[in-house]
Amino acid sequence: MWSGKAKDVLVLENEKVQINFRDSISAFDGVKKEELVDKGKTNCLTSVKLFELLNNYGFETHFISQINDTQILCEYVEILPVEVVCRNISAGSFCRRYGYEEGLVFDQPLVEFFVKDDAHHDPLITQAVAVQMKLISKMDAILMEAITRAVNEILVKVFGLISLQLVDFKLEFGRSKSGQLLLADEISLDTMRLWEKKTGEKKDKDRYRQDLGDVIVHYKNILDRLSNIKKLPDYNPISTARVIIKLKKSVLDPAGEVTFRSLSRKGYQNIDNVRLGKSAEIIFNAVPTSTIQLELEAISEKILSNPLIEDFEFKIQHHPEKSVEQQSLEE
Ligand code: TMP
Ligand code: ASP
Repeated sequence: MWSGKAKDVLVLENEKVQINFRDSISAFDGVKKEELVDKGKTNCLTSVKLFELLNNYGFETHFISQINDTQILCEYVEILPVEVVCRNISAGSFCRRYGYEEGLVFDQPLVEFFVKDDAHHDPLITQAVAVQMKLISKMDAILMEAITRAVNEILVKVFGLISLQLVDFKLEFGRSKSGQLLLADEISLDTMRLWEKKTGEKKDKDRYRQDLGDVIVHYKNILDRLSNIKKLPDYNPISTARVIIKLKKSVLDPAGEVTFRSLSRKGYQNIDNVRLGKSAEIIFNAVPTSTIQLELEAISEKILSNPLIEDFEFKIQHHPEKSVEQQSLEE
């Protein structure tokens, strides 16, 4: 069994784990800690609700089923050493790091990566450094960002429905034995900031961090409101993938050669070489997942390109949901 600050993980047979939510709460890398009655149960049930909801919208997560009030059954995954934070409104470490006040609403959600490294207090890391240091692959980084943006869009809608503002949240990802990238860990009031829309009242772990009191009262209130949602919001996801197909370096490109000569004749002196390629844009009506990424890789290799003479690269992106007007224009 493996024990973290608030959960225990028991590895079972058949590539499954049992996660047990304890009543422990901690902040500031465990410097401040306590036991709060019903905390394990409330976080477990909130995570169950949110993972079920994300599974319903098509996300790939480690969550399989609820065992009881404090335990869930999940896929076994190797947790990636990078956490992803998405912010809609300034708060927490963002304000401390850059010196901005709390409560600034961003034009676009911001996505930040952090290294899971307690000794260095989980520092912010750029995607380039995370890839260079081989913490994650470039493909992982792109997919993690796309998934996080799509999760944000859905959670903003769901919490909006119950008069709450999603300020920010943190996601963890894991790799399953079969190689899938799955949303993992927990999604609860410990891993997000949630404010009452009307009053701005804090409903999340900041109540504990900032000694605001009644932590579990507020956690339970959110769980009740989530449980009372009768119908989940409709959501029309789109993910787009851009595939670029290029002739291999060793293959001659007569069309590129002609373009190059014509440009040289026209006086463009600084151009050294021209190689022409093709690009494709593929639009999926689904949230980004590692299954889509694998499909895309197969399509690019087997259908869009000729592997004897061409190489390809691709990038999957989440797109904000189509508005109703856009949909009716297309019909
Ligand atoms: P931050 O503002 O402290 O960087 O936190 C951003 C979000 O991430 C916030 O919703 C709380 C969550 N979070 C965790 O889930 N675990 C952590 O260890 C930290 C520091 C933040
Ligand atoms: N979860 C971290 C800790 O237990 C930090 C935090 O959430 O503030 O120390």
